[in-house]
Amino acid sequence: MTTIPSFTMNNGRTIPALGYGVFQMTSDEVRTHLRQAIDLGYRHIDTANAYFNEVAVGEVVREAIADGVVTREELFITSKLFPQSYPYAQCGADIDATLERLGLDYLDLLLFHQPYGEYVSGWRAMEEAVEAGKVRSIGLSNFNAAKVRQILDVATITPAVNQILINPRQNQHEIRTKLADTGIVYEGWYPLGHGDKTLLEEPAIVAAAERAGASPAQVVLAWEVAEGVVVFPKTLNPTHMAENLAALNVALTDEEIAAISAIEQAPYYEVPDEAPAFVLTHNDYSQQR
Ligand SMILES: NC(=O)c1ccc[n+]([C@@H]2O[C@H](COP(=O)([O-])OP(=O)(O)OC[C@H]3O[C@@H](n4cnc5c(N)ncnc54)[C@H](OP(=O)(O)O)[C@@H]3O)[C@@H](O)[C@H]2O)c1
Repeated sequence: MTTIPSFTMNNGRTIPALGYGVFQMTSDEVRTHLRQAIDLGYRHIDTANAYFNEVAVGEVVREAIADGVVTREELFITSKLFPQSYPYAQCGADIDATLERLGLDYLDLLLFHQPYGEYVSGWRAMEEAVEAGKVRSIGLSNFNAAKVRQILDVATITPAVNQILINPRQNQHEIRTKLADTGIVYEGWYPLGHGDKTLLEEPAIVAAAERAGASPAQVVLAWEVAEGVVVFPKTLNPTHMAENLAALNVALTDEEIAAISAIEQAPYYEVPDEAPAFVLTHNDYSQQR
């Protein structure tokens, strides 16, 4: 089985460099494909209350543990809260609700999913969840540098990660450099460009793939991990699932890493200042789909 390397976060805990993301997966798809992923050797799972599949994730995880495939300690399970959960008076109850839907005693990582609403005052509730042993690490997603600094201004626990759009066309070196002093680990969403095939046709990626005897998708994932970025590519295809895990065995040369880092960047992306409509409408997380 492929050994999954880990990165060390600023709280001393480790995080597996590659996992399985379940964004836009129905509960039935999670029941089928997440178990395939665990059986293949995936140990890191990325879900969210706004993915409406926490119940199914919990069922699969508990079944895999009961079947002796894996122990809870060997798994790294992340969920995220949408902004409706941030107000301090609400946040603790919503963390409990996520744990209840998952049927777990603790999360390895919990993130504020989107930088809107009362994230500054809500951060204290996240810290209390760590103190109560309900969550081991806490972090952010889609926060730009200024908004990360707003959290740092009130934090007694520094965010351990920031999960943002990262792939070879969005290498996000700018925010990562600006916040280098925080020790925040970056997780990359859309690591394979969300299915944009033209990303996999970039000449620097194709050349490295041919030299390494790997697929372009494997080269992209290997580059991201070499950059210190955690990835959780999503796939419903068992062949891709195995291929993505095996990307950890692909060794890129320094020249190949530099060539992929030099790929022309798409217009710089960060989420807009005003909350988009979809952020305001996902509000009844008890309704699993
Ligand atoms: N925090 C956030 O706001 C946020 C936002 C978006 C996503 N995420 C996280 O990031 C994860 C990944 O995002 P994503 O699924 O949208 O994008 P992605 O992983 O970049 O792309 C998924 C697409 O890549 C294809 N693919 C996967 N493996 C492949 C391979 N080896 N070769 C060729 N194609 C391959 C999949 O098709 P097949 O099914 O055919 O393999 C699918 O179309 C999510 O599941 C979620 O955990 C977080």
